[in-house]
Formats: sequence, structure tokens, C-alpha cells
Amino acid sequence: MTNINTEKLSSARFAEATDAFVEVFTASVDFDQRMAAQDIQGSIAHATMLAYCGILTEQERDDIIRGLTQISEEIAKGEFVWSIKQEDVHMNIEARLTDLIGIAGKKLHTGRSRNDQVATDIRLYMRHEIQVITAQLTRLQHAILNLAEQHFDTIMPGFTHLQVAQPITFGHHLMAWFEMLSRDAERLQDCLKRVNVLPLGAAALAGTSYPIDRYKTAELLGFSRPSANSLDSVSDRDFAIEFTAVGSLIMIHLSRFSEELILWSSAQFDFIDMPDAFCTGSSIMPQKKNPDVPELVRGKSGRVTGNLMSLLMLMKSQPLAYNKDNQEDKEPLFDTADTLINCLRAYADMIPHLRAKKDNMYNSAKRGFATATDLADYLVRKGMAFRDAHEAVGLAVRLGVDTNRDLSELSLEELQGFSVLITEDVFDYLTLEGSVAARKHIGGTAPETVKAAIATARLAM
Ligand code: ARG
Repeated sequence: MTNINTEKLSSARFAEATDAFVEVFTASVDFDQRMAAQDIQGSIAHATMLAYCGILTEQERDDIIRGLTQISEEIAKGEFVWSIKQEDVHMNIEARLTDLIGIAGKKLHTGRSRNDQVATDIRLYMRHEIQVITAQLTRLQHAILNLAEQHFDTIMPGFTHLQVAQPITFGHHLMAWFEMLSRDAERLQDCLKRVNVLPLGAAALAGTSYPIDRYKTAELLGFSRPSANSLDSVSDRDFAIEFTAVGSLIMIHLSRFSEELILWSSAQFDFIDMPDAFCTGSSIMPQKKNPDVPELVRGKSGRVTGNLMSLLMLMKSQPLAYNKDNQEDKEPLFDTADTLINCLRAYADMIPHLRAKKDNMYNSAKRGFATATDLADYLVRKGMAFRDAHEAVGLAVRLGVDTNRDLSELSLEELQGFSVLITEDVFDYLTLEGSVAARKHIGGTAPETVKAAIATARLAM
């Protein structure tokens, strides 16, 4: 046979060289080289296990570890030459290893396949990224707790339908954000349980005939256990989909915070002052201070949910076991991790510098008849049926609107015109302070309750 492409992977099988475009089209080294550290970590564990089981000699194992250590230094220094001819991160590293140490390098792939290798690399990579994401998430949670503590009794309007509904404390509002993030952190940790399982040993799809010890490899790599089914191990990416789903929820939460920060920093709300360092001006309108960071974060929620769709569609219709389709999992996954880390970091940096405009918040709650429900509740306590109370207070609000006054600014005589049940003590309930203080059950907005919620949250972190 002539015409054999000696550089081609599994070359002996092929009589023709790969089409030049196909070579580029099918290669993944441009992006999967990001997993080089994990690939080396996995290979060192694999070689160690092979020697432990007597499949490699100790000398071969040591040569492999020495070679891989050198490669990781070359990569760190930017000296490593990545070649598209070697298709992906795995083949690039293995080829270089054989250059460096000779025949022992060719033995590294004993009892494994790139299929279980790549699944292992991704899981190691994600395990690391989940740690980094969690650290940023925790920083953000602490920032929110600190701000909530400063504002446990700062009164603002609470909204439904973006219309003033009832007075709340700003600390309570912030703690709602905190709760969302706490669930996100929990989901990440739960997802980690399913990420942290070892595929190596599944080989191409059916396992291997070598007397390997998968528990040993799992132990060496810090995985909780070896995977239970070789076909499943090399083919499913549900753990990656799950991670991206968790990431999508985080981004949707950040997007909702962003929307509020953007609204609140507008002249129309004017509830907060965003730190200058997190805003930019306009090239044409000199007065502008734009909330770029929240806007960008809100926008970036689109790419992460898009990545989730990509991964779901990637998986759909794949027959068992490994298919090349799976090479497409990496870019959405890397992008998800990067986006999460950057957005959480930006938020964790920004939140401590947020300044609440307490007077504006207070006045806005006052203007919106936020204590109307409190007046109705007052009448109910005095014996009126809730529906009748609702009606009576509706009339009182109408008088307030017509005369441009808050309920607390109506006179006792005027209020008594709506119900004879009303007495002097009504004013204790019509004030914003009275309204929030009354909601002191668990989960309520009363300052003392918010303080307790913050303390409980701190203990749980
Ligand atoms: N680059 C491939 C991937 O990302 C590695 C596995 C290739 N395996 C194969 N049999 N072609 O999935």
C-alpha cells in the first residue's frame, strides 16, 4: 500500500489522507485545549492505576508521569505546539508524550479510549468550574447580606404589577434575592454529585478486557465512585445539561436583579445610586450615566439559556453510545462557565457600592397608598367583613387621590365618614412604619424579622 497518511490517527486503517477541510472541520483542539490540565491529571491517574494493577511497569508509569509533567510546564509557559493534525487535546498531548519518552508514551492509552477520556476531562473541568462559580456566588451572597443588614429597616414600596402594593423594607427585598441565590448554590452542589462520577474504564463503550481497578482511578481523581454503565458513561452529557440548566436559573435571577437595578437607577424611580465605576457615559448625551453592568448581565442571560438549548438539542436523537456530536458540548459548556463566573464576579464587586436613596424610597411608598391593606385589616379586626372593608378603604383611597393626600394625611373625621369603627388608634396602622412592623411572622418584612432572617442566613453559610 502506498499513499498511507502516516500522520493520521488510526492511520493504518486508511488508504487516503483526510480531506484538508474535513481535518479542520472535525478538529476540536482549538477549543478543547482548555481541558489540558484535566487531561493530564486524568492520564496520570490512569497510568498510576495501570501500574498498580500490574498492566504497566513502575518504570513506565514514572516515565509517563515525568513526560506529562513536562508537557504541563510547556503548556503553562506557552511553549507547547498544538497541531490540528492531532485533532484534539488528547491526541496532541499523547503525541508529545511519545516524542518525549518513546515507547512508554504509546502504552498510556492501554485500557482506555478517547471516549471515556474526554468524558472524564469534562467532568474534572466542570468540577473545578463549579468550585469557582460557587466562590463567586458566595461572595455575592455575603455582599447582599451586608447591604440587607444596613437596610433592615429602610422603608420602600413593594410592588406587584410594578404598581406600588404595600410597604416593605429594603432589607427584605434584598433578602428575596439572597433566597434565590441560596437555592442556586444548593442546585450547584446537587449537580456536582452527578458530575463527580468517574467514566474512565468504560473505554470506547463496552469496558476493557484488562484487569483494571476503576475504584483506584476514582480514588486517585477524587471522584465519589466509578460510573455504573459503560455505554451511559461515554455517551450521556446530562450532567452538562443539568449544569447549564442551573446556570440558566442563576442568569435568570441575575437578569431579574439587573432589571430592578436598571429601573431603580432611572430618574423616574431614583431609588439607588449606582457606583460610577460600574457605569458608563454616553458619547453624545453628556448627562447620561448608564447602568451598563446590569444591562450586560441581563443580556448575557440570553447566551446561557441558549447554551442550554444547544446542549439539549445536541443530545436529542443520539443513539448509544458515543457519537461525534458530543464534541459540540464543549463550547456551550465553557461559555456557560465563563459567563457565570464573570457575571457573578461583576455583581459581587458592585453590590457593596450600591447606595440606597432612602428618602426617595420612603416618599414613593407614601405616595402609593401602600397602607390601604393595613386600613382594611384594621377594619376587619374591629369586626367588619373583609369585602366590606375593601370597599370602604377603596372610597377612602379615592378621597386621597382627589385631594392629593396619603391615607395617613386624612383627618379622623374624614376617615370616620367611611366607617364608624375607626378611632384615633387607626393612625398607628396607617403609617409605613406601623405597616411593616406588623408583618413580623417568619418570612415577613418587619425590621426585626429581617434582622433575624439575616442572622439565620449568616449561620447557614
Ligand atoms: N474530541 C472528541 C470529543 O470531544 C474526543 C472523543 C473522540 N472519540 C472518537 N471516537 N472520535 O468528543
